[in-house]
Amino acid sequence: MNLLIINGPNLNMLGAREPEIYGYETLEELMMWLQTSPEGVNHQFKFYQSNHEGTIIDTIQDEREWCDAMIINPGALAHYSYSIRDAIASINKPAVEVHLSDIHSREPFRNKSVISDVCIKMICGKGKKGYLEALELLQSD
Ligand code: DQA
Repeated sequence: MNLLIINGPNLNMLGAREPEIYGYETLEELMMWLQTSPEGVNHQFKFYQSNHEGTIIDTIQDEREWCDAMIINPGALAHYSYSIRDAIASINKPAVEVHLSDIHSREPFRNKSVISDVCIKMICGKGKKGYLEALELLQSD
């Protein structure tokens, strides 16, 4: 599969950012771990991180022909970005939403994701293993 992996705002700060919540590994380390996992080596990846909603939408649109499926951690955009929701819906490819932390046991504003209903599943609270679980789900889909 050609897999588009999108990480949204502030995820470039992993490792330094609230490590008690998000862990001590950098985004680069996490993505390398995913790509080199026994499941990952069977697929082609494009990794994209941005702090900007519009460029995430541009990337989803630009890669719509290339990608077979998408894994997206939208960061806080999950909680309010109808534009990202619409972009995911518009490309008609399976997408899995991942959050490192358990968004349901944190501040109330994190409890809701406006993206979930256009994704085949939301995985949260499993740290980096959530990305791997998303990959396993997509390859069995
Ligand atoms: C996050 C959860 C979001 O609520 C938060 O804004 C993030 C990271 C996660 O991976 O747990 O930036 O998506």
